Amino acid sequence: VAAKPVRIAVTGAAGQIAYSLLFRIAQGDLLGPQAPVELHLLDLPQSQEMLRGVQMELDDCAFPSLRLTKLFSRPEEAFEGVDYAFLVGAKPRSLGMERKDLLLENGEIFVEQGRALNQTASRDVRVLVVGNPCNTNCLIALHHAPNLNPRHFFAMTRLDHNRAIGQLARLARSSVDEVVNVAIWGNHSSTQAIDFSHVKIQGKPFSFGRESSREALTQLLQQRGASVIQARGKSSAASAAHAAIQALRSILEPTPAGQWFSQGIYSQGNPYGIDEDLIFSFPCQSSGRKDCEIVQRLQIDSYLQEKISLTQKELIEERECVRRWL
Ligand code: NAD
Ligand code: LMR
Repeated sequence: VAAKPVRIAVTGAAGQIAYSLLFRIAQGDLLGPQAPVELHLLDLPQSQEMLRGVQMELDDCAFPSLRLTKLFSRPEEAFEGVDYAFLVGAKPRSLGMERKDLLLENGEIFVEQGRALNQTASRDVRVLVVGNPCNTNCLIALHHAPNLNPRHFFAMTRLDHNRAIGQLARLARSSVDEVVNVAIWGNHSSTQAIDFSHVKIQGKPFSFGRESSREALTQLLQQRGASVIQARGKSSAASAAHAAIQALRSILEPTPAGQWFSQGIYSQGNPYGIDEDLIFSFPCQSSGRKDCEIVQRLQIDSYLQEKISLTQKELIEERECVRRWL
């Protein structure tokens, strides 16, 4: 018998990230080229014509594993029975804004979508929030999905993680696959705490030499999203889609022994004393069975602890700002 297609919803499907993400999924980059998939594309009513164009292009690729593409403007219909949901649809910031300036404009979307997931998605759905500010939007969504497992909701800090690997490899004149164990703690924002203290390059511990080099790289990475907006006139899209694929792939594959990836996850029960009701990025590992566990017992030096406290403070402030929706 033919395998049942895996049902995947993508919101903001007429937007720029989706224009890369959908084709990557359909090609098999998430589940492998043999796994049949059914794509559910959700966007606003006024974007349905644009969605039709995207659907035509998906058809025109004749991807062997893409069994069906359906278009929606209502989240409860789009999420019916879905196994994975990429929540991308939200307004992007423009130059000069911080991501949290989008909270009041975007937050409500995640009330509606959290409820819809709760009503109609598979009970085993995995949800990745990409739309900014993604940590707090994810917290809103999970608060409105009480019948789903909060540990199945993730916010995307994988792009920050990948950016750090890219820059470290450049600095060390090494290849990217020789750089391991960087970690992003906290918020996908300019307060993100970047943990270089466990990084290994070519199997050896990495050190910056000068304090000023660590500070300079931290700032470059904290501002990378803004730098892309300044240069492109639009926020990152292909790199964001790539990170979204990797963020979910990382829970489907066992993490190599002794390594980790960064993922925004629900903080309840975390071993690092972080407030228990946040979506916070931690170094994580997976057994490959759609799970994501926080790496335990990592040493945190006073420098990193200070940065973690700052990013936690920002997330608590963001939560206060959306209290009415929680
Ligand atoms: P875009 O403006 O190109 O596309 C957004 C799409 O979402 C539009 O088609 C819009 O109609 C749709 N949309 C808006 N409200 C919706 C709703 N309620 N339901 C369904 N669809 C809705 O934006 P983009 O460049 O694709 O970025 C999308 C989001 O992702 C932004 O918030 C951006 O800041 C964020 N982002 C996050 C990361 C990350 O690392 N977490 C990286 C890049 C971008
Ligand atoms: C990014 O990091 O590129 C995205 O979050 C977009 C942004 O607003 O910076």
